[in-house]
Amino acid sequence: MVSKILLFVFVFNLVSDYSYGQRNKKFFRKDYKYLEEVEGFYKIHTLHKTWSEAKRVCALEGASLFYPENDDEAHAVLSFWNATQPYRWVHVGISDLIVKGVFETIDGLPVSDVYNNWGPGEPNDAGGVEDCVILRQDGTLNDDQCNKKFPFICKKSLQSLEWNQRCNFPNLDYVYNEQIGRCYKFHLNPLNWTEAYAVCNAEQSYLAVINTQPEADYLVALTESVPKDKVPGNYMRGAVHLGFHNRANEGWQAVRGTSLDDTGYTCWGTNQPDGGEKEQCGSMFYNGLLNDISCGTRAFFICEHEVDTLSSALDDRFGDAVVLS
Ligand SMILES: *[C@@H]1O[C@H](CO)[C@@H](O)[C@H](O)[C@H]1NC(C)=O
Ligand SMILES: *[C@@H]1O[C@H](CO)[C@@H](O)[C@H](O)[C@H]1NC(C)=O
Repeated sequence: MVSKILLFVFVFNLVSDYSYGQRNKKFFRKDYKYLEEVEGFYKIHTLHKTWSEAKRVCALEGASLFYPENDDEAHAVLSFWNATQPYRWVHVGISDLIVKGVFETIDGLPVSDVYNNWGPGEPNDAGGVEDCVILRQDGTLNDDQCNKKFPFICKKSLQSLEWNQRCNFPNLDYVYNEQIGRCYKFHLNPLNWTEAYAVCNAEQSYLAVINTQPEADYLVALTESVPKDKVPGNYMRGAVHLGFHNRANEGWQAVRGTSLDDTGYTCWGTNQPDGGEKEQCGSMFYNGLLNDISCGTRAFFICEHEVDTLSSALDDRFGDAVVLS
């Protein structure tokens, strides 16, 4: 007990030091690099995406599609980029998609207020189809086609970082369940199973896996508590995607490598699974019983986040922080 209190005090001190930015390593996510000189976290995405996909991916990661705010930031990010990746250009968060010819950042600033360093003769709207902006390795901007797939950079400023202390990660939408010791988010935008899987992954989580009856009860209560009836559109009502599937035809597997039988909870709904080859993804009826569902069916879904153990999270987050014995 005493050691628990000590640990709490210790952690509290670290976190408060951390939030005032006075000490040790700054941390957002393991896949982002902190650049001290511009007080921001950056990730260069190597999987090429269209401009709008890139913008969405950054948002899912809790960040935003990077654009340079000024020369210093352009220089810092280009140095990082030159040192780590071979790309000649990346999508940046500037476009004239709202009104053609008016280039603005994704947060609505005129490009002349940020990094207004166009390449010679740019922007030229070649062919009348260039509405999105790329940053070239030489530091100049150019307009190009939004649907071309390029690498891109996501950014989170230190100043905008908010930490979910219970869940020990930077996503305030997740709710900690004390009894289970994990964090959950109910997603009210219906997606198919494969998209839902990718969304949870981008949030450093995974589609929820039920391990115990209390966890099933909690997910039922969570489902009851959200305003799902207000969500319009064409999607399946009555079930939410969860983290199990039979996509490889090897029997039902939970995400993260266990068979469904080993998760500790296998309460299927009446006559389920019933879809055979057509229903190879996993969901839960609103009453908590399991159901097979077509992987292409849109439905709500629940992501689950495992709370990092204190020691490893602190090691990563605070680098040279003192470790309690
Ligand atoms: C990055 O590399 C390009 C191409 O070699 C070069 O033109 C540019 O000056 C470099 N930028 C920085 C900040 O290192
Ligand atoms: C899920 O939706 C995405 C985007 O619409 C689509 O590309 C994908 O093929 C769908 N997945 C399945 C299994 O149908």
